[in-house]
Amino acid sequence: MIHLRGVFKQFDGKRKVTALEGVNLSIESGEMVSIIGPSGSGKSTLLNLIGGLDRPTEGEIEIDGSLLAKLDDDGLTRVRRDKIGFIFQFFNLLPTLTCLENVSLPLHLRGWPRKKIEERAKELLSLVQLGARMDHLPDELSGGERQRVAIARALSVYPPILLADEPTGNLDTSTGVEILRLIRDLHERLGATVLIVTHDLAVADSCRRTIHIRDGHVFQDVRR
Ligand SMILES: Nc1ncnc2c1ncn2[C@@H]1O[C@H](COP(=O)(O)OP(=O)(O)OP(=O)(O)O)[C@@H](O)[C@H]1O
Ligand SMILES: [Mg+2]
Repeated sequence: MIHLRGVFKQFDGKRKVTALEGVNLSIESGEMVSIIGPSGSGKSTLLNLIGGLDRPTEGEIEIDGSLLAKLDDDGLTRVRRDKIGFIFQFFNLLPTLTCLENVSLPLHLRGWPRKKIEERAKELLSLVQLGARMDHLPDELSGGERQRVAIARALSVYPPILLADEPTGNLDTSTGVEILRLIRDLHERLGATVLIVTHDLAVADSCRRTIHIRDGHVFQDVRR
């Protein structure tokens, strides 16, 4: 489902940073995998490359049979739109759209009918306990509330692949548990492949497989 072969990522700023150094990784369809590692070890970079938000300096990434390097920008956008839900570490909500509009956006992009969009978006916002905040702008919300909107948006289209970067990092324990339940539900009921970056060892341990990243490479790959 997801294959990385010899993936390197270098950032060429004032000082060169090698964020990933030769990552080889295969994730089968329907796996739920946690990714842990120290700050700066390359976890977000890895997720961004798998999600097609950035391209590797070297190496190959294959998603559901497509080699990302062979796709032009339109092709990459299509893979992202049709196959991937992304929960970012820092929300990425559109500031001029209300919560309801933010959650509806991916559904519009996939051409859902208007009525179903509204139903689904409202259902998701209620699930993350923001039913009373649908018409608010992101600016008017707390960090945890924004994170919950971002999660509702990522889950709205039932993505076959969900990439989640610290999805519970900004949330209190009980909301975090609820969010994790949503993610697990997507995984168990719909067979979604889930990659979840976390600093929370309890969350990491609740997955059948945990990948440890250190200094830009896979340091350990544990199955339980
Ligand atoms: N756009 C960028 N330009 C330059 N360097 C970058 C860029 N993005 C990330 N890096 C560097 O690449 C390395 C890996 O960053 P990354 O964001 O992947 O870490 P992380 O494991 O997600 O950390 P955290 O747990 O703090 O989120 C870091 O040293 C970071 O400074
Ligand atoms: Mg990160």
